[in-house]
Amino acid sequence: MEKQIYLIGGSKGGVGKSLVTMALVDHLLEQGESVLLVESDTSNPDVWKAYKDAVDAHLLNLDEADGWIELVNLCDNAPKSVAVVNTAARNNRGVSAYGQTLNSTLAELKRKLVTLWVINRQRDSLELLKEYMAAIPNAEVHVVRNGYFGEEKKFELYNGSNVRKTVEDQGGKSVTFPDLADRVSDDIYSKRLSIARASKELPLGNRAELSRWKGAVAKVLSEIIV
Ligand SMILES: Nc1ncnc2c1ncn2[C@@H]1O[C@H](COP(=O)(O)OP(=O)(O)OP(=O)(O)O)[C@@H](O)[C@H]1O
Ligand SMILES: [Mg+2]
Repeated sequence: MEKQIYLIGGSKGGVGKSLVTMALVDHLLEQGESVLLVESDTSNPDVWKAYKDAVDAHLLNLDEADGWIELVNLCDNAPKSVAVVNTAARNNRGVSAYGQTLNSTLAELKRKLVTLWVINRQRDSLELLKEYMAAIPNAEVHVVRNGYFGEEKKFELYNGSNVRKTVEDQGGKSVTFPDLADRVSDDIYSKRLSIARASKELPLGNRAELSRWKGAVAKVLSEIIV
C-alpha cells in the first residue's frame, strides 16, 4: 500500500502543531504502521524528544534546501514507513522556497503529500494557508481547527471563509481536534512523554482523561487517514 507523507503545518507558533503531530504518530503506531518522524523544529524539538526512542526520528532544518533534500532521501529509503513531518512556526518561507523539491519527487517516491493545517481562531492562520496552497499546489490539504481555542462554531472566520471553500472543493476535510485537559497536556510536555508512555505512566485519573481524548482523536483522524 502507498505510504503517505503527512506534513503538520500551520506556520503560526503555538497553534497545536506538535500535539497534533504526536496524536497522529500515536494513532499510526496503534494501526500497526511503522513511522518515520521528521522534526523540523530544531530550536524546540518537542516531538522528537518525546518519540526518539519509539520511532525512527530525525531532526531536519526545513528552512534550508539541505533539509528538503534529506527529507526526500529519508522517505525514499524507508518505503514501508509512513512519514510524519512536524513543522516549526518559522518554516513558512522554507516551504515556499523549497517545497517544490519535495513536490517534484512525489510521483517517483510513490507517496502522496497530505497536509494537516492546524489553525486557531485568528486570521493569520488562514492567510498562511493560502500561501502554502499556492506554494505546493498538489498537496492534499485538511484543516484542523484546534478545539483548545474553542468549540467548532467559534472558528467563525475559517468556517465562513473562501479558503475553507477551496479546501473542501479540493476534497479536503475540516475537522475539529479535541481539547485535552491542561494538567494532562502539561504532564506530557513537561515530562517529554510520548502519548503511549503517558498512557502507561500517568496517575489513573490523568490516564482516564487521556484515554477519553485519544478516543475522540481517533474518530477525527479516521476521517482523514485512510
Ligand atoms: N488540543 C489541545 N489540548 C490541550 N492542550 C493543547 C491543545 N493544543 C495545544 N495545546 C497546548 O498549547 C501549547 C502549544 O501547543 P503545541 O506545542 O502543540 O503548538 P505548536 O504549534 O507546536 O507550537 P510551536 O509553533 O511553538 O511549535 C502546548 O502547551 C499544549 O499543551
Ligand atoms: Mg511545535
